[in-house]
Amino acid sequence: MTPHQRWTLRTEHTGYTVRLSPDGPWAELHAWGPHGVENGPPALDWSHRTHFVTPADAAPAEYVPHGLRPFAGADLVAARPGAERGVWWSFEDVREEPGTLRLTFTDAVLGLRTTLCYATVPGTDVLHRWTELTCTGEEELRLERLDSAAVNIPVTAAARLTYLSGQWSQEFQHTRLDLARGTFAIGSTQGVPGHAYAPWLAVQDASAPHDAPAPAYGIALEWPGNWHITAQAEPGGAVRVRAGRVPHEGAVHLAPGDTLTTPRLACAFSPDGLDGLSRVWHRYERRLAGERLHRPRKVLYNSWEATGFDVDADSQLELAKAAADLGAELFVVDDGWFTGRADDAGGLGDWHPDPAAFPHGFDRFADDVRALGLDLGLWIEPEAVSPGSRLYAEHPEWVYRIEGRPARRVRNQLLLDLGRPDVQDFVLATLDRLLTAHAVDYLKWDMNRPPTERGRPGAGPADRLDLDAEHVHGYLRVLDHLRTAHPHVTVEGCAGGGGRIEHATLARTDVVWPSDNTAPLDRLRVQYGFLHAHAPHVMSSWVTDAPGVFDPRPRSLAFRFVTAMCGVLGIGADLRAWTPEQRAEAAGWITRYKEVRDVVHLGDARLLGSPEDATCGVQYDAPDGRRTVVAAFSTGPLDGAPLVPGRPARLRLRGLDPTAAYRDAATATTYSGAHLLHYGLPCAWSAGHDADLVVLTRR
Ligand code: DGJ
Repeated sequence: MTPHQRWTLRTEHTGYTVRLSPDGPWAELHAWGPHGVENGPPALDWSHRTHFVTPADAAPAEYVPHGLRPFAGADLVAARPGAERGVWWSFEDVREEPGTLRLTFTDAVLGLRTTLCYATVPGTDVLHRWTELTCTGEEELRLERLDSAAVNIPVTAAARLTYLSGQWSQEFQHTRLDLARGTFAIGSTQGVPGHAYAPWLAVQDASAPHDAPAPAYGIALEWPGNWHITAQAEPGGAVRVRAGRVPHEGAVHLAPGDTLTTPRLACAFSPDGLDGLSRVWHRYERRLAGERLHRPRKVLYNSWEATGFDVDADSQLELAKAAADLGAELFVVDDGWFTGRADDAGGLGDWHPDPAAFPHGFDRFADDVRALGLDLGLWIEPEAVSPGSRLYAEHPEWVYRIEGRPARRVRNQLLLDLGRPDVQDFVLATLDRLLTAHAVDYLKWDMNRPPTERGRPGAGPADRLDLDAEHVHGYLRVLDHLRTAHPHVTVEGCAGGGGRIEHATLARTDVVWPSDNTAPLDRLRVQYGFLHAHAPHVMSSWVTDAPGVFDPRPRSLAFRFVTAMCGVLGIGADLRAWTPEQRAEAAGWITRYKEVRDVVHLGDARLLGSPEDATCGVQYDAPDGRRTVVAAFSTGPLDGAPLVPGRPARLRLRGLDPTAAYRDAATATTYSGAHLLHYGLPCAWSAGHDADLVVLTRR
């Protein structure tokens, strides 16, 4: 094997070329971008002069251990227990097959084999990267850092980083910073990806010209546990992004003969800026859904915001009847249906319908819901347990705790150690029972507290455990079981809003709940960020009566509907209080949604402007280009008419055929593609007219 030898992985429109470094035993980036980008010198070629650092510190290394790269940040930190940290490996071999590449490096002294793995995802512009670490010696190894991969991106003066940040009720806020030098880090130690940051990052050159979208590189880590993403702006115009899981105990022990496979890092590129990058992620997530993508996502009614914990058959049936009259297709009973759940202080773990709430039995209730023509869904929080529950009395040892330390309660509850096989078996049996005994079609899986005192008494030395990974494997095992044992059940992923949304979850669920905030302008912002990383067909969204928390300006019912129709429409309002006029309007919107949901879920989505603009929207083009659906929003400011001369706002569409004609049947208007691209779709907003759904048919 000679230095400079290189390998190219090709996706639909991009190429990723790796080479063996001429400077040392590591792989480094040659080029990543549109097809053909590899024909030229290495994108991050450098002077090969170093002062105070080593060549590995300056190289655009794909994955390099501490030892070889002592100063600038390593992707792997390994040692024998009690010995000095460091790996000094040499290149062993390469295995290349169509769409995959494996580069192996070995450190015979330490007894570690490391394989850098690459695989393209067919039909997308996404490449998976991960690393396999095998202990080949006779002594175990301690892995303090075990990243999945690093990516290197050339920038001129600074890197423009876009990330999705927030908190509970304000997830997925689109946030940006320019990093000229230094380190940027995001992550979670909450045992789930968390509300604060999505495990997702986009990188662009901050100096790109303003009149064209700057090519965008993106990464997303497939790991529903603790994680980090770090971006380092290095000298000489390079940004190096590293990502991986973060063990709860600070290190993972690798026994002789064992192999640890890191989570996959999905790497994406688009020449068309963040908007183009979002479509790369959407297409990828449609692929994750497999054949389930083509099951229409039903219009849901969820009773949480209407009844809270006050669940009983009569109130639920009253809501179900009202929802069915509007055209809803599915009724979900949220938290509060099981014994001991008068409020958030009890009941979790004892997953039996409350006989007081369902005096004629839950099955009779289920039949009554079905008689309305609705599917039935149930909320559950399988990882949670209330301290007063029977489950906790019988199995106090199933809860995370540290011997001799008090167990804190978060939302009055404790967390089951889902890494334990007996806990997994309990959860599997509970779900099997509920889903078969009551003919449930839809399951909303919630999770409302992070692990605090995370320990497993009696399981040996605490620093030998890998509780975060075990919990993740338990969670994924149960989700996989749902897919195989109950394939007809639609699964919604939720963690106190959007606390656990990443690709391992998205590959095993049908929809996810991005945020508990359903207020119109707040939700618009959540969804704007969400759609940069995730596809419309997974974005559950409800029409409710909620007032704004962060932006309390009132918006119309139409605004709430059009916002929720940008993803998977649901209703969460207390329909009992709605007027006949509101119900009639809602029924009209639901009918329209059913007509266009295939375009929204299967088409190409384009984000038009942002909620910071007075007018913004989302454009969805059907895969065959025959229909374009535009969700348009007025975020507040108007043009002043009729007091002063005013003109309708214009929303410039993108990606249309300029020579084609597009007909809006609702207003009997025909536009040329050129007009819609150049001037835009007119939106004549007024105080009462603040959102619209326009359907354009190509002629
Ligand atoms: C948090 C979820 O995000 C809500 O939608 C709701 O299901 C509550 N939990 C119920 O406790």
